[in-house]
Amino acid sequence: RMTTWVDKDTCIACGACGATAPDVFDYDDEGIAFNKIDDNTNTAEIPDILFDDVRDACEGCPTDSIKVEE
Ligand code: F3S
Repeated sequence: RMTTWVDKDTCIACGACGATAPDVFDYDDEGIAFNKIDDNTNTAEIPDILFDDVRDACEGCPTDSIKVEE
């Protein structure tokens, strides 16, 4: 089971996560990322097929703003 959310207070809008995991992360009007599956509420289970994308996005975030719970 995996859930994920973005700490919008530390995201610097670098844009990497949406490129790495476009099915999970999107950006608000200011470029700040969020989990678009559950509106960043950390409640929806991420589909298995997207686990690798989310892990890659987590590892690639320069500010460690992507939180993943497994
Ligand atoms: Fe922000 Fe990190 Fe994504 S800085 S745009 S959460 S890669």
